[in-house]
Amino acid sequence: MSNITRNQEMESPRIITLFSLILANILILVTSSSQNYDDFLECLSDQFQRSNSATDIIYTPQNVTYASLLLAQNLRPAATARERPELIITPRREADIQAAIHCSKKLNLPLRVKSGGHDFEGLSYTSQTPFVVVDMRNFRSVTIARDGKTAWVQTGATLGQLYHTLALRSRTLAFPAGVCPTVGVGGHFSGGGFGMMSRRHALAADHIVDARIVNADGEILDRKTMGEDLFWAIRGGGGTSFGIVLEFKVTLVTVPETVTVFNVTRRLEENATELVHRWQFVADKIDDNLLIRIFLHPDVSPTTGNKTVAASFTSLFLGRARDLLQIMEKQFPELGLTEQDCLEMSWIESELFFSGLRDQPLDVLLDRNPRDVLYYKGKSDYVSTPFPLEGLRGIWRFLVEEEGSELQFSPYGGAFNRFSESETPFPHRRGTVFMIEYVVGWETLNQSQQHLDWLRRLYDYMERYVTKSPRAAYVNYRDLDIGRNNIEGNTSYEQASVWGLRYFNNNFRRLVRVKTKVDPSNFFRNEQSIPPISS
Ligand code: FDA
Repeated sequence: MSNITRNQEMESPRIITLFSLILANILILVTSSSQNYDDFLECLSDQFQRSNSATDIIYTPQNVTYASLLLAQNLRPAATARERPELIITPRREADIQAAIHCSKKLNLPLRVKSGGHDFEGLSYTSQTPFVVVDMRNFRSVTIARDGKTAWVQTGATLGQLYHTLALRSRTLAFPAGVCPTVGVGGHFSGGGFGMMSRRHALAADHIVDARIVNADGEILDRKTMGEDLFWAIRGGGGTSFGIVLEFKVTLVTVPETVTVFNVTRRLEENATELVHRWQFVADKIDDNLLIRIFLHPDVSPTTGNKTVAASFTSLFLGRARDLLQIMEKQFPELGLTEQDCLEMSWIESELFFSGLRDQPLDVLLDRNPRDVLYYKGKSDYVSTPFPLEGLRGIWRFLVEEEGSELQFSPYGGAFNRFSESETPFPHRRGTVFMIEYVVGWETLNQSQQHLDWLRRLYDYMERYVTKSPRAAYVNYRDLDIGRNNIEGNTSYEQASVWGLRYFNNNFRRLVRVKTKVDPSNFFRNEQSIPPISS
């Protein structure tokens, strides 16, 4: 029996509340085999004695903390997965990760890696076959270089932690990544990372200049030792496939002391259809310092009481309100933006604004616990030819019938046009007008099928309007509906091509070549990881 002490500390009341919520809603088929985890503990114990590591980093389903470590915003994956982790390991040292890889291989118990746990399909913490999780939460330091130009960011940090550290250093230091502060750096940077500054500064992954990764042999490599092929693959090729990334070195950006935000909502009876239609011809061409995103959701008209659709035009401008108003007056006067709609603030305040945390203290960004825990499903599409008015009206017919649904239209253009399709694995560059994110959320497990059916019908409807050959998708909005996925993660090249081409287009073949070279035994895998070609 292992001599490792299992961590038994008490939980905070907030976590217990969330945990109870999950227990009330989730039906996990618990099939943990105690033999598996005893063997794994034994193996880790041997390894740790050698590396003299701490022993309070291993959690079994018997630990109170275990459930809180599995807390995720999306309840759906855990409710439908066959397995929950036999063990969760929260490494504190690089040697702990190497030990976990060693034991996973030795005992043939697959390993999943989790940073922020926001994968849309829960692939970092659920599986259909027995497995263990390496949870990177203790690897969360952010070290800014003295000159403020670069930072090393460990992958267990959340975006909120990253932004918080930057804000403490300077009002004008920033990083272009996603909006939600609880998203993890590990998954987000690995798949791209789109945010409110992306038209000016492209993706988080486009700012990676070095990385440290543990490969399938437990070796730690940096950019120089991993080589340019692998370094290319981990900047947009999606999490999991190539190793456990310990940290990324990124270039930071500077922003003006004062930026401007607005959030203007128009419903159908306020000309929303024509405004959304017009936005398609403006949003990817307007000043690079301006990003106007649209959130579309069902609503009730305050004037008629009838069902309607609300279009919220949500925007960040890297400059003062007076300059923004001039640009809008010239290029998108139809929206009717006024001075009263514009709020001037610092960049970090804009992050709080977009996260729905306005006026909260900065430290709220350090909270890793997901807010709004619910069942949900997401999908994505890309648009290169604007929708006709009738196409938009068709979307509204879907939205008004589905409570809890939302579409986001995120504009491209600007900095995206400075990258060729093959510069990184993320191929959606010049020619993309906007990206669509679909989300539908619900509260109880037994409602799942009706909502999934609704979303799949909408996705079918959209086919005629979005990119074709391939119909593109964003790997960070992971969607297991695309293609048939092997639950063991041993997907064939042909099976994987279905989603591989959609996420990566022509870059998929190069990703497969890199995978074949660096991980031919397919140690790092999940249902949609890049497969090696067996010789
Ligand atoms: P998680 O820990 O679940 O990991 C995701 C994938 O990466 C898994 O396959 C995992 O195994 C792998 N992985 C994680 N850490 C790794 C590591 N250290 N090394 C190797 N592989 C690793 N996207 C966006 O572009 N812009 C946005 O604004 C948002 N906003 C947003 C809000 C909310 C509420 C959600 C749920 C999601 C988003 N996203 C997003 C999508 C998000 O970028 C995507 O889900 C990321 O993969 C999440 O990364 P996490 O580390 O949180 O997830």
